[in-house]
Amino acid sequence: MRWLILAFSSLTWAADPVVVVEQRCLKCHGGEKVSAGLDLTKAGSARIVERVESGEMPLGGPRLGPEEVAAVKAWVAAGSKPLTASAKKGFWAFRPVVKPAVPQGAAHPIDAFLLEKLQAKGLGFAPKADDRTLLRRLAFDLTGMPPEKPLPYSDAVEAFLASPRYGERWGRHWLDVVRFGETDGGEHNFERALAWPYRDYVIEALNADKPYPEFLREQIAGDLIAPADPKIVRATGFLVAGPWDSVSAELNKDVAMKATARMDELDDMVTTTMHTFQAMTANCARCHDHKFDPIPTKDYYKLTGVFQSVGFGTREVVSAEAKAAFEKAASPLRAALKAVEQRIADAEDPVRASYLRTAMRAFVAERAKDPRRIPLNPVFNTNRLRGGGELRLVITGHDGPVAKLAWLTVGGREIRGWEAAQKATPDAPVFLPLGTAAQGSEMAWATDETLARKPGLINVYRVEANQGGNGWRWPVRSTTSAWWRRRFRPRQTRIWCPS
Ligand code: HEC
Ligand code: HEC
Repeated sequence: MRWLILAFSSLTWAADPVVVVEQRCLKCHGGEKVSAGLDLTKAGSARIVERVESGEMPLGGPRLGPEEVAAVKAWVAAGSKPLTASAKKGFWAFRPVVKPAVPQGAAHPIDAFLLEKLQAKGLGFAPKADDRTLLRRLAFDLTGMPPEKPLPYSDAVEAFLASPRYGERWGRHWLDVVRFGETDGGEHNFERALAWPYRDYVIEALNADKPYPEFLREQIAGDLIAPADPKIVRATGFLVAGPWDSVSAELNKDVAMKATARMDELDDMVTTTMHTFQAMTANCARCHDHKFDPIPTKDYYKLTGVFQSVGFGTREVVSAEAKAAFEKAASPLRAALKAVEQRIADAEDPVRASYLRTAMRAFVAERAKDPRRIPLNPVFNTNRLRGGGELRLVITGHDGPVAKLAWLTVGGREIRGWEAAQKATPDAPVFLPLGTAAQGSEMAWATDETLARKPGLINVYRVEANQGGNGWRWPVRSTTSAWWRRRFRPRQTRIWCPS
């Protein structure tokens, strides 16, 4: 963890003198004017300490307190480094937290602060709500639900805070802050079935009143703090709760685009970490320094360095013993499941075969003979035609010298073992006429019969229809078949976490 804290502390305005000088001196020494030729944003002065100790400075203002004097002394001792333009702006977020004096006039300090501002505008509090209204407000606020029975106010506060509904309701706000989603986003936008353990972590943390420092640290580095404790490791789902461009990250072969996609991932982690825990943006510094942004580009890239080791993916979160126990219990169930799956497959296969007509039946039959020799293809695809008419496959990208198609069926026709005559490019596509089919027809195809990406695999394509001779349109919507998804869905106890 030390490296992480260091990386952050190098960014904070740990030095109080900056704040003191900024608030008490700059008005006359570098802000609106430069009195006595002393511009404290450019250089310090050896005489500073004398002047503040004697109480001569700040001119006309209250003397600095002993702590403020000590801070100024430390600043001078450290060479009174010039203040930056951003410090000059005096951002409230970088000032130390101070406890203000509570105004008079109300029993509760929060009410006292509110009343002070209201009274300054000639206003006061609205009349007190009756007990029933108050209880309803409290219940909706803390649990998101109406109250079930009348309760005295103070009992209700405790009861609602103790309710599991409290964490569920308020956890949602946190999940919004950290841009939690259960799909990848991007072009594929796959469902992220294993994101929920992080969601549960947030809910449980709120319900258990987890102290904020722990809550913060666990989300940024839970896997380093307690690598063997799944309950804490799952907190790091925070880092990867945002969008993930799986296409650029996994499929793209262009080195520059891949690198850009990776920087986008890191940018998302830096941005969310800074938004969430520092309440400020840092991502503007990705491309250039700004005059008044306290985060320079250099610090932005230091921050991305913190997350360099974080990748997107799932990781196992079970201990070895728990896993062994699980396997022991699961293996007879798996065997039973396999038998059921076989029965389902036996029942489904004939239906599927007739559904996808002649060629599909041939494909299934070939698989049945030896599924290992002809495994189900990851690029096997089914599409339902959004429009009908005369069809053509437009190929604009593929592996290898020419595009190849193992098998395709549409409108009762079948094409097997097709090979293009020349290379296809986005500018010079290769067209494969498919005959005619009605709107809503199912089109099924396998571009390649093995799991390996054989040369010729078509990876950029579209299907166009010429309806009634009105010109070529793009009528196909890709629908990944439920059958395909079932075979490939992972069943391990994994969570969406940095891998
Ligand atoms: C309201 C305006 C004002 C504020 C605020 C103010 N100063 Fe000054 N300061 C002056 C003026 C005017 C002079 C020149 C007159 C003097 O030397 O007394 C001066 C002179 C000085 C000098 C002497 C410069 C020299 O080279 O001899 C120092 C040092 C100094 N200020 C430090 C500070 C520090 C430190 C603060 C904040 C804690 C501060 N001042 C706040 C107006 C201000
Ligand atoms: C992806 C890179 C990138 C990011 C991120 C970025 N900028 Fe820029 N910014 C640029 C580029 C490039 C220019 C110059 C554009 C031009 O001159 O045509 C620019 C120009 C500017 C300018 C104009 C500067 C001038 O002197 O005219 C401002 C202001 C600015 N950006 C502010 C921001 C802010 C605020 C953010 C964050 C919300 C931000 N930038 C994020 C790339 C970026």
